[in-house]
Amino acid sequence: MKHIIIPACPIQSISTPYTVQLDVLREDLNHPLIQGNKFRKLKYNLIEAQKLNLDTLLTFGGAYSNHIHATAAAAKAFGFKSIGIIRGEELATKELNPTLKDAQNMGMDLKFISRTEYRDLTQNHNYHHLQEQFPNTYILPEGGSNELAVKGCEEILDERTSAYDFICVPMGTAGTISGIIRSAKPHQKVLGFPALKGADFLKESIEAYTTHTHYEIINAYHFGGYAKFTDVLIKFVNNFSAESQIPVEPIYTGKMFYGILDLIENDYFPENSKILAIHTGGLQGIEGFNKAHKQFI
Ligand SMILES: Cc1ncc(COP(=O)(O)O)c(C=O)c1O
Repeated sequence: MKHIIIPACPIQSISTPYTVQLDVLREDLNHPLIQGNKFRKLKYNLIEAQKLNLDTLLTFGGAYSNHIHATAAAAKAFGFKSIGIIRGEELATKELNPTLKDAQNMGMDLKFISRTEYRDLTQNHNYHHLQEQFPNTYILPEGGSNELAVKGCEEILDERTSAYDFICVPMGTAGTISGIIRSAKPHQKVLGFPALKGADFLKESIEAYTTHTHYEIINAYHFGGYAKFTDVLIKFVNNFSAESQIPVEPIYTGKMFYGILDLIENDYFPENSKILAIHTGGLQGIEGFNKAHKQFI
């Protein structure tokens, strides 16, 4: 049984012309492939699968899913087989995109299903027949968020991070921010930047994991919705990556950094605030993004 240890990652400063301090916790460096919040979300799930003596990880995702990619990488690194249930049966007949090709090369068995079937499985958590079909299998929900994932994300913060006034994190399913809210100090405010539009429901997702309320969901920087983008965002992502030497992608971290800098410019943060942004990884998606959109990051 392989031990699962996540190394502490560097905190890097970003210079701004304002009085606030902006630092980045480079969780994207915690593993070359499992990377960022994904490794945190998987850690206790992998330990649980090991304890239960299950030999396969099974999960769900869209064609560009960071979670699919990370689960394939984690399975390979820690001695599991893996199965990926992918949304869209039409993909079975097409050339695989870089995310899925990588996942397959790391040993993941990809199964393509229709969008209706996918919705039934993932929205209703209707895993019964999957569990029968694949008996020795540990099933992870779409996006990887569950109680054990949230527990893993509590560990993103450590003794180095308690001096910050604000902790910023991108949001998809809200699992990552829930763990951070749980472990943040009472004087800290956690700011979530949803990558999707109409994300009011994410408050309920947070409330399922924590009763703490020292957080705010900042809805203004989704750029039209999940995986949507504008020329302004692409230009920002490229400039930010070049100037800071911190690679970011346009789906999650790019939108968050755009939001943080815009809030700084608009005096959201009191003078001399110490702000920590969590870099949650997701960099594997850049290759597929460039191929699909011919807009280069
Ligand atoms: C790179 C990256 N950052 C942030 C998130 C959001 O995490 P969560 O779904 O836990 O809110 C995701 C997706 O899950 C992601 O892939």
